[in-house]
Amino acid sequence: METKIVKIDPQHIDMEQIAGMGRLLAAGKLVAFPTETVYGLGANALDEGAVKRIFAAKGRPSDNPLIVHFANAADIKTVVREIPEAALRLLEQFSPGPLTIILKKQPHLNDTVTAGLDSVAVRIPANPVARALIAAAGVPVAAPSANLSGKPSPTRAAHVIADMDGRIDAIVDGGSCAVGVESTVLDMTGARPAILRPGGVTYAQIKAVLPDVQIDAHVLQSVGAAETPKSPGMKYKHYAPDAEVIVVEGDIKKVRGKIEELIKGVQQKRVGVLAMDGASYPAADLVLSAGADNRDYANRLFDALREFDRRQIDLVFAEFSGDMDYGLAVKNRLYKAAGNHIIHVREK
Ligand code: TXA
Ligand code: MG
Repeated sequence: METKIVKIDPQHIDMEQIAGMGRLLAAGKLVAFPTETVYGLGANALDEGAVKRIFAAKGRPSDNPLIVHFANAADIKTVVREIPEAALRLLEQFSPGPLTIILKKQPHLNDTVTAGLDSVAVRIPANPVARALIAAAGVPVAAPSANLSGKPSPTRAAHVIADMDGRIDAIVDGGSCAVGVESTVLDMTGARPAILRPGGVTYAQIKAVLPDVQIDAHVLQSVGAAETPKSPGMKYKHYAPDAEVIVVEGDIKKVRGKIEELIKGVQQKRVGVLAMDGASYPAADLVLSAGADNRDYANRLFDALREFDRRQIDLVFAEFSGDMDYGLAVKNRLYKAAGNHIIHVREK
């Protein structure tokens, strides 16, 4: 299949082009588009055949449900059974934005999009291109991240093209994504709200609205063979580049000493380092900058993981320090990218 690529300037949205892309979505086609978090691979959520094609294009396991996207918060009532008062308060604070809420679903919504669960994940993205596109489609838009299953999520159109060219109908290129990691996923179907995936809205921000919010244990621990996680996505390999990734975590000075030592012990492999500003690793084959803080890190992480592969790096050491705020989202993605291969550098 030929994939049509359309460039849209988010500052001056070409509404005619967007209308064309919206018609494709409404007609059951697959269209990738930018959001403020990562690029999504969209399909009409009410068209089960179209939703099935998302799973095929990504190679996604059919038991991993999709997020349904809306242009406006008022529209989520078309797919959820009820909106609890706490959810309304959250939507007021963080919608549109990088927050996904899981609520009980209405029976009419097809089982493919929710992977047979009785809940549905809903989100109102803030990116103006995304909102214009969803509004133009006139239907709820199911969209996972627009990467091949298991690969790092795409934060630029070039990443989507690398994974999806020839597999989907169109790609809307709206530039790079501001946040760079996926939305925070919050389960509101249980007795207490629980963060299933940390993201662009932080734990502290949610706690300010919902004091009883908790963080699901699987955010940082891998899922055991006998366990059923709250989010099916938690059990799958994620964000993995071809290169092996090892996270080195702790006080940044000690982290750097440890990575230098580790590089010296590596033989016959091309070594990369993902490093915060101010680091220097002359012995490494490629050093990519994670920026000055964890917000920058979140923004650059997925692009860097793809760049290491492009530059034929075999082994990546990733510096990590501090898991407050955006740090928790970064840590969650890094741990998964590393398959939980983590070295903690302890204080002496
Ligand atoms: O930022 C984002 O959320 C991006 C953009 C495109 O909006 N989307 C995204 O979708 O990251 P995806 O499919 O890559 O991740 C959705 C996660 C998966 O881990 C999935 O298992 C979980 O949300 N999920 C979806 N529906 C769920 C449900 N009803 N119950 C529990 N987990 C759910
Ligand atoms: Mg994904």
